Amino acid sequence: MPATVIIGGQWGDEGKGRVVDYAAKNSNIIARYSAGTNAGHTIVNDLGKFSLHLIPAGIFYSDKKCLITHGVVIDPLKLLEEISMLENRNVDIRNLTISNRAHLIMPWHRIIDELEEKRRGVNAIGTTKTGTSPAFIDKVARSGIRIADLMDKEKFREKINTILKDKNDLITKYFDSEPLNEKLILQEYEEHAIGLLKFVGDTMSIVQEADSKGENILLEGAQGSLLDIDTGSYPYVTSAVPASIAAGACIGVGLGPKSISKVIGVFKSYQTRVGEGPMPTELKDSMGDKLRNQGLEDGTAEYGTTTGRPRRCGWFDGVLANYSAKLNGMDSIALTRLDTLSGFEEIKICTAYEIDGQIVNSPPATFDELNSSKAIYEDFAGWQEDVSEARQFNDLPKNAQIFINKIASLTDVPIDMISVGPKREQAIIVKKLFD
Ligand code: GDP
Ligand code: IMO
Ligand code: MG
Repeated sequence: MPATVIIGGQWGDEGKGRVVDYAAKNSNIIARYSAGTNAGHTIVNDLGKFSLHLIPAGIFYSDKKCLITHGVVIDPLKLLEEISMLENRNVDIRNLTISNRAHLIMPWHRIIDELEEKRRGVNAIGTTKTGTSPAFIDKVARSGIRIADLMDKEKFREKINTILKDKNDLITKYFDSEPLNEKLILQEYEEHAIGLLKFVGDTMSIVQEADSKGENILLEGAQGSLLDIDTGSYPYVTSAVPASIAAGACIGVGLGPKSISKVIGVFKSYQTRVGEGPMPTELKDSMGDKLRNQGLEDGTAEYGTTTGRPRRCGWFDGVLANYSAKLNGMDSIALTRLDTLSGFEEIKICTAYEIDGQIVNSPPATFDELNSSKAIYEDFAGWQEDVSEARQFNDLPKNAQIFINKIASLTDVPIDMISVGPKREQAIIVKKLFD
């Protein structure tokens, strides 16, 4: 079976890492194909709890090939730190390959990310300040530096020399900040090049060869469809190219659309968002705090994996979920964090918006309209039982079953996996994700 895409259906942090860790056991190759160190994917398995920002969540299976493809922007220091962290915890990373076409996050990207946010003031986007979006912006502007350049000392020096002049002009003249030191950057990045050298290769040919042999390829999405530059809640989105939707997987990995045989959308059983931007179902009251802090005991409270920021929490938004399901052509949904909803008297799902007195069933295009959209809810009786030990759909309380069925009908996509806890085995497989 060829390639399966695992994609976030909301604003990121849906539990993609957890689902990839589960699904990877049936795959030959697992590839991260977009975003950068803004992503944070949590995996809890026999070896413990891990936060990965660049390395695919399939890395825990030593017999699988893991790829960071050309669609990812790489901060070499962060990647080397991630590699060391895994090595120190006895994870075998010999099967990791990094694309020579991937772009680099450079020191100016991190600084410009900070300075731009400051400049935006009240209109700040709430970026991760990891330099990820500025690195993508430079890639599109054709002034990026790639891994292949880093591996060629002369080329790298030449590139830094030209690009840094412009960047320092921007930093000093426009932002009135301190210039960066060329020598220090060269020294730092040349050391990184040595550390990364043994992992660098042509990920595109690896994937294409596997595809031609009919091997199982798992494409690990980052972020979520509502953060996508074209289809998300613009301008409160990320600047990743390829897109943060399933179609981006082909571009990010180097396969044609016909190679994708399945799209699995990951949704939380409610809604979260980090950073700024409209969120029609946000709960700014004690109910939102309850959703955020339900996981305090088992370490799954809603605080960002990358930045530690509290995630904004609210009820499941069926309008956005339906939009996202269509946008990605989802075949299956993996619904996560059902256990977080235990203990609520009543649970709500947003089924429509009211905008200027009109009822609408699809999200409006503009920020102002989405910001003023009033969520119309359907109420559901909650359940008090702990569901974290459930392994069959029928083990779930009736009210939980009704809630899940409503999400399937609103999205028109079957819910094939239900996650009831952060650990690998805490899942209900309604229908096998792979044949
Ligand atoms: P990703 O970016 O989509 O991979 O998601 P994150 O790792 O950023 O955030 C998801 C959080 O939810 C992590 O803390 C996971 O350990 C946790 N998680 C995933 N699935 C479940 C689940 O079913 N129940 C609970 N309680 N936590 C979960
Ligand atoms: P994973 O893969 C949640 C959000 C940021 C901010 C906006 C732009 O873990 O689901 P950026 O730094 O990308 O320019 O910030 O996008 N964002 C994410 N939110 N999960 C992510 O990734 C995110 N990646 C970016 O919080 O609102
Ligand atoms: Mg995350």
